Amino acid sequence: MRIALAALLIFPFAAAMGFVAGHPTDGGPVRQPTFYRDVLPILQDHCQQCHRPEGTARPPLVSYKDAKENAGDIRDSVEQKRMPPWFADPRFGHWANDPSLTAGQIATLVAWAEAKAPAGDPADAPAARAWAGAWNIPQPDRVIQMPAPVFIPPKGEIEYTYEIVPTGFTTDTWVQMVQILPSAPQYVHHAVLYIRPPDARWLRNAPRGVPFTASGLKDPQDRHDAHGTDSDMLLVYAPGSSPDRWPDGMARFVPAGSDLIFQMHYTTTGREGMDRTSVGLVFSKSPPERRVITLQLTNSSFEIPPRADNYRVEVHGSLPNDATLLGFFPHMHLRGKEFEYNIVAPGGRVETLLHVHYHFHWQMTYRLAEPRPLRAGTVLEAVAWFDNSRKNPHNPDPDATVRWGDQTDDEMMVGFFDVAVPASMDKWQFFVRKPIQQ
Ligand code: HEC
Repeated sequence: MRIALAALLIFPFAAAMGFVAGHPTDGGPVRQPTFYRDVLPILQDHCQQCHRPEGTARPPLVSYKDAKENAGDIRDSVEQKRMPPWFADPRFGHWANDPSLTAGQIATLVAWAEAKAPAGDPADAPAARAWAGAWNIPQPDRVIQMPAPVFIPPKGEIEYTYEIVPTGFTTDTWVQMVQILPSAPQYVHHAVLYIRPPDARWLRNAPRGVPFTASGLKDPQDRHDAHGTDSDMLLVYAPGSSPDRWPDGMARFVPAGSDLIFQMHYTTTGREGMDRTSVGLVFSKSPPERRVITLQLTNSSFEIPPRADNYRVEVHGSLPNDATLLGFFPHMHLRGKEFEYNIVAPGGRVETLLHVHYHFHWQMTYRLAEPRPLRAGTVLEAVAWFDNSRKNPHNPDPDATVRWGDQTDDEMMVGFFDVAVPASMDKWQFFVRKPIQQ
């Protein structure tokens, strides 16, 4: 039930759900599986959102030829549970965007590869999935691209790069779906897209339409402010993260006259290149009842000792108002190991909502299968564990004491989470606490 529900929610325009009924999804492979009847439906529902010619991952897994040529790798990647990528501990929570395969689906792919990848009858194939080009959301109503490309050198650290782009919106706009699409994803460690309303002071004297970094800004206030803002976010992107796709009645608010500010964290790969990231927006067809805002639980005052292999950092916060919890996006750097979100009840009892076995290369969004209403005063806790030992293959320097910082050899501890609040309430109003009623 969980998997069927998850597949429905990830792929609201999927026509191919019927296949589940005709074949066992658990308890063993289909006998003599064929590509068209048994394999293609799995690839469509669990792989093609990344593996298609215009998608972000190679190899494409659309045609019979694609799959046959990669049959051995498909078998290995699903048997070893490297693919599809997913890092939530299955003991906690149910996730709308969980792409995991059932044991039966894995067995089907393995049996098919071992039978030398038979094609079967093309008449058995489900309808091809209709993608809007590279978008995993429907064709956007508006695409906004960074006006100027950013040059990425072959090596070294790159300061966060910003680009300010006016939306040109002459009316207040509700955005129901949004996806960030880098033109060169291999360089993008993260991208945060901020909404700067027309009256906000943030980076007011910074140039528009060209890339800049904080240290290159002339205005000292802007230089200082570049590193922190209370501006609302439109979306956070990292490899593996999902686009936002809210149900009818929920959307993000972009006031008329706002600018979008791209904050790009590029990392070098040994080869130089260029990136011009785009964002695609699908507008709400009618005004929503609820507004989606992104909040964060952040601890920026930790010190991870040299060689510590399981260093724990935590942070708590209580919700200032009622809100419906929608999803999570944990963010750490190279020493990230585990991340957890909990609700701490008044007596101290801890309920774990999400536990992630963190992987630096895959920073995923975890979207609740069932949004959860929370009362004002609910205490949320985020806990991170860091591995600063030699055992961590990504660790650049086990002898360093590690503190908060922008670069990937510094650390971060941010538990982003999305909530829905009444449409008329903005992020600042949400933080106004009502006096406690006795
Ligand atoms: C969220 C996006 C995403 C999904 C979903 C996904 N993949 Fe991948 N896959 C990738 C990326 C990105 C790479 C490249 C990995 C790398 O460079 O480390 C990759 C690599 C691979 C590779 C080649 C390298 C290897 O690990 O063997 C195979 C084969 C593969 N995926 C199969 C699959 C199959 C089969 C599915 C579905 C059952 C799937 N993937 C689902 C993103 C995805």
